[in-house]
Amino acid sequence: MLDIEIVRAHPKDSPRLKQIAIDSKRHWGYPEHLVSKWAQTPIITPESIDIDKVHLARVGSLTVGWVRLLIRLPDVVLEDLWVLPDFIGKGIGKRLFGHVLEQAKLSGARHLELDADPHAQSFYVKMGCRVVSESVSEWGRNIPHMVYNLQG
Ligand SMILES: CC(C)(COP(=O)(O)OP(=O)(O)OC[C@H]1O[C@@H](n2cnc3c(N)ncnc32)[C@H](O)[C@@H]1OP(=O)(O)O)[C@@H](O)C(=O)NCCC(=O)NCCS
Repeated sequence: MLDIEIVRAHPKDSPRLKQIAIDSKRHWGYPEHLVSKWAQTPIITPESIDIDKVHLARVGSLTVGWVRLLIRLPDVVLEDLWVLPDFIGKGIGKRLFGHVLEQAKLSGARHLELDADPHAQSFYVKMGCRVVSESVSEWGRNIPHMVYNLQG
């Protein structure tokens, strides 16, 4: 079992976190031109790391994943959750999601919301989320909008 440490991100981590998000997104085999175009957007900025609740997962000295929670009461949104491909399926997503849940509960909000990558929907269902609606993304995918009941 991996020894996973969850720590708050620092604004200077932003280039590394951006690269993890890009590598993680590639895991699902999306067309490279779509991923490359997305990679030209900010994805994560030092300012957001300063303002929002951004935490990273470390295994030893290596950052292997990260999560961003936006608290904009009454809305609490899981905006990002990324694990490096080599570390997928090793319990890191579950640890990061659990960490976010603790913070979301402390906010007093009723629900945690997120728009899931379709490939990750089953992961979020396993974490206790349910699908409440669907939308079509600019990549033509059906994106499930999911919620976790924080006061259940
Ligand atoms: C989705 C993601 C964050 C899950 O993280 P992970 O570290 O691989 O997940 P874990 O190893 O902690 O798995 C936790 C549980 O969910 C299950 N699970 C994980 N991913 C799953 C999937 N895609 N489908 C079904 N079940 C899944 C695991 O089997 C495990 O079950 P268990 O607790 O019974 O053993 C990770 O696959 C990832 O980063 N994917 C690429 C980027 C992405 O899609 N991010 C989400 C954007 S919304």
